[in-house]
Amino acid sequence: MALVNAKDMLTKAKAGKYAVGQFNINNLEWTKSILQTSQELQSPVILGVSEGAGKYMCGYKTVVGMVNGMLEEMNITVPVALHLDHGSYEGAKACIEAGFSSVMFDGSHYPIEENIAKTKELIELTNKLGLSIEAEVGAIGGEEDGVVGGGEVADPKECKMIADLGVTMLAAGIGNIHGQYPENWAGLRFDVLEEIQKLTGSMPLVLHGGTGIPADMIKKAISLGVSKINVNTECQLAFAAATRKYIEEGKDLQGKGFDPRKLLAPGAEAIKATVKEKMELFGSVDKA
Ligand code: 13P
Repeated sequence: MALVNAKDMLTKAKAGKYAVGQFNINNLEWTKSILQTSQELQSPVILGVSEGAGKYMCGYKTVVGMVNGMLEEMNITVPVALHLDHGSYEGAKACIEAGFSSVMFDGSHYPIEENIAKTKELIELTNKLGLSIEAEVGAIGGEEDGVVGGGEVADPKECKMIADLGVTMLAAGIGNIHGQYPENWAGLRFDVLEEIQKLTGSMPLVLHGGTGIPADMIKKAISLGVSKINVNTECQLAFAAATRKYIEEGKDLQGKGFDPRKLLAPGAEAIKATVKEKMELFGSVDKA
C-alpha cells in the first residue's frame, strides 16, 4: 500500500478510543523493524522523522525513497503515514515537496498570532495536496534533536483557536516532556487535557514524549481524547541496550559477528519488541 495521510487512521482511533503510535525513525533498521511489527500486528502506524534525523539520513528525499521502497518490497498492506516531527515552517515545506504524507508544524515557540498565521498558510498547502498536518500549542518540555521545549501547559482556549483553523491533529503540552522523565515528575495534567478535549470535540489529540509514561496514564489520556502517541527515546534505549549486550558478550569477535547485519540484529529485534509493547498498550493492534 502507498503512503497515506494520518487523517483516516486518527479519526478511526479517536472514535474507537485507541491511539496510533508515531515511532521516530533514524535509519534503515529502525524503519524496517517498525514496518515489520506494524504488518505482523495489523496496526496502522506513523513513521516520525525529526529534522535532525532527516538530515542524518541524507535528506527528506532519501527518506521518502527508502520508505516507499520498503512499503512495496516488504508488501506492507497496513496504513503507513510518513510524518515530519516538530517541523519548522521551512522544514514542513521541504517535506511536502519531497513526498511526505503528513507534517507537523511546531509553532509553539511563536506568539500565538504568529503560530496561527503560519499554521494557516501550511494548512492551505496540505489541504490542496491531501496531506495531514499537526500543530502544537504549549511547548513540550525536554530536548529532541536540538529542539528544546520549555515544558509549558497549553492554554485550552489557544488549542481551540488552532484546532478551528482545520488542522488534522493537535499536540498540546500537558506536562509531558521528551526523553526520560525525572524522578520528581508531577505527571500529566489530566484536568487540562479534559478541558482541551471539551473545547476541541472530535479533534484527534497528540501526546508527545511517550517514553516512560506509565501504562495507566497512557490509558487515561486515550480515554480523554488522545489518539496519537509519539515514542522515540524508548526505541533508542532498547536498541542501545541490545547492541551493548551483544558487544559486551564478545559476539562481534566470534566468527563473522562483526558483520553489520549480525551486529545490528539484536538492536533491530529490541525495537520490534518495544513497538509491539506500545501498540498493544495503545490498542492499535488489528485496527489496520
Ligand atoms: P520520547 O522521545 O520521549 O518518546 O518523545 C517522542 C516524541 O514526542 C517525538 O515527537
